[in-house]
Amino acid sequence: MFEELFGISKQVLFPHRWETSLITSKTAAKPLVGNQSADYILSLLSNPVEHEDLLIIKDGTYCRRDAYTSGGRCIKENIRELITQEGCAIYLRWLEKYDSNFNTLANRLNAELSPFTFSFCLFYAPTASTLFDEHFDAHDAFIIQLEGSKKWQVWPAIVADVEAVSSPHFYTPMVRAHVAEHAPSYEITLQAGDVMYLPRCTIHRALPTDEHSSHLNVWMTPRPLHKFIWGDVK
Ligand SMILES: [Fe+2]
Repeated sequence: MFEELFGISKQVLFPHRWETSLITSKTAAKPLVGNQSADYILSLLSNPVEHEDLLIIKDGTYCRRDAYTSGGRCIKENIRELITQEGCAIYLRWLEKYDSNFNTLANRLNAELSPFTFSFCLFYAPTASTLFDEHFDAHDAFIIQLEGSKKWQVWPAIVADVEAVSSPHFYTPMVRAHVAEHAPSYEITLQAGDVMYLPRCTIHRALPTDEHSSHLNVWMTPRPLHKFIWGDVK
């Protein structure tokens, strides 16, 4: 499943490229992940959505939750309006909680790549909508472009490691300063079906093209070190 979904051989990734090199490829599993449009996202929002799983963003700012939820439930008409009228982007995290197909996919990847765990985030952005400023993440990421296109700029990592998932936030001023002084070392516009592997800590920024965009961001997280039990070595 891993190789079909990401178009990347495990034999290539793990001995040589994991945590060190950006890789681009094409998915061979397009029918599996589908064309996930705004209508698809809205169809998932009939059940209550946990706090922070759904983010609606305009010009880098999060919309207030009471603009699109009431009593823990999403107001779909408001969300549709925010997308179509206001040009807001949608970010739905942990897609596997809301779509059983992605739950099956995540379980298969977890079993295949144990002790790594996989989770899916779905981004949908109408034309000219930017999601996040330059940043890096504490986990590896596979970006799968589903519809439209998105331009990515990438800078090499400025830290070799971070202690926790939340740690990258502490580096925001450092990342901004670095990006202001250095041109990106790599730029690519991903088209539908394209895949990009971003090693953790790699600085990246996604920019809109002149068409809408939906992409999956698949997190590949290693097992936290504190869960290891060290025995006596004899
Ligand atoms: Fe990111």
